[in-house]
Amino acid sequence: MKPIIIVVGARPNFMKMAPLYRYLESNNLPLILVHTGQHYDKNMSGVFFDELGLPKPDIYLGVGSASHAKQTAQIMVGFEEICEENEPSIVVVAGDVNSTIACALVSSKMNIPVAHVEAGLRSFDMEMPEEINRILTDRISNLLFTPSLDADKNLINEGAKKSSIKLVGNIMIDSLLNNIERAKKSRIHNELNLVKGEYATITLHRPSNVDYEDVFSGIIKAFEIIGNEIPIIFPVHPRTSNMISKYGFEDRINQIPNFQVIKPQGYLDFLALIKHSKVVLTDSGGLQEETTALGIPCITIRKNTERPITVTEGTNTIVGSKTENIVKEWVNISKNKNKKGNIPELWDGKTAERIGRNIIEYLEKH
Ligand code: UD1
Repeated sequence: MKPIIIVVGARPNFMKMAPLYRYLESNNLPLILVHTGQHYDKNMSGVFFDELGLPKPDIYLGVGSASHAKQTAQIMVGFEEICEENEPSIVVVAGDVNSTIACALVSSKMNIPVAHVEAGLRSFDMEMPEEINRILTDRISNLLFTPSLDADKNLINEGAKKSSIKLVGNIMIDSLLNNIERAKKSRIHNELNLVKGEYATITLHRPSNVDYEDVFSGIIKAFEIIGNEIPIIFPVHPRTSNMISKYGFEDRINQIPNFQVIKPQGYLDFLALIKHSKVVLTDSGGLQEETTALGIPCITIRKNTERPITVTEGTNTIVGSKTENIVKEWVNISKNKNKKGNIPELWDGKTAERIGRNIIEYLEKH
């Protein structure tokens, strides 16, 4: 039997692929795990393999960081060779990072079926590199695994074949539910001297927020105001760390009372941090979903989201990047005036199984 290739590349891919890898493995299917190396630091990559129970990748491309064109091209060149050598029955990609589109494009040109996990999400903002990756990957995928009905609608509107769309739910939530018990053993609150329920967690890494000095400065202003009222934990992404140095923001950040800048956290410690936050402020995609699943208020520092269900059903509020709008929503939350939210349908921990069954059925038919 020809192998199934599972592709991972950047941090958000690992928690999406771990449960699927395990399901397919438990069905004795031949698997090849390919890591492109888009993310490579121990705390952006290796730690997730250990904690999520993913095996060491069978093939590591080691492309590293570069411009979009260079990074995507290097992944494509390496991945084409992998496909030539291994003749996979299907290639499974996840999410919206450069590794996703690069490997989908190679496979589709080689007439190898592509399955896209987390298909159909749209921010309708073509300035986001991820939106381009999402649209193009969906267009050339044979199986479109969607997390929620809004994604199905987007795909239908774009002319996708109905039979290729499979509403399976949110696979990130599989990982969350599989690990939330283990996360209870985390010592992070002791280490950081935090009282559960009485601190804010912040993550920030979108180019639109951190690459522009004036925008980033306005966001830090909001942190300066909020930091006077509640301790803040800021696990800082390497891109953001580079930008803090470039714009000389270290002094401002150091002067915020009770503001702890820490390195990017592993999966379990980070889950423990979110679960007991009073509020999460973020521009991440996945975190909007994780906070909804855990019922924690989320302030999204972006002008749009590709995950609208976290707003219509969950705990998420989109506020943009302006100081006053970020602070205004914090004031609501500090007075417990935030919305409470529900857990969306099919965010039940069984998405990997639904995806796995669909893949097996597809391979039997083709
Ligand atoms: C990428 C994804 C983004 C995702 C994010 C999660 C694309 C287009 N973007 O953005 O969708 O939300 O990952 O983290 O695929 N760096 C390190 N160590 C690493 C990785 C990166 O130091 O292990 C630094 C490098 O300086 C690099 C910068 O971070 O230039 C940005 O990394 P890159 O993968 O290009 O984009 P992200 O901002 O991480």
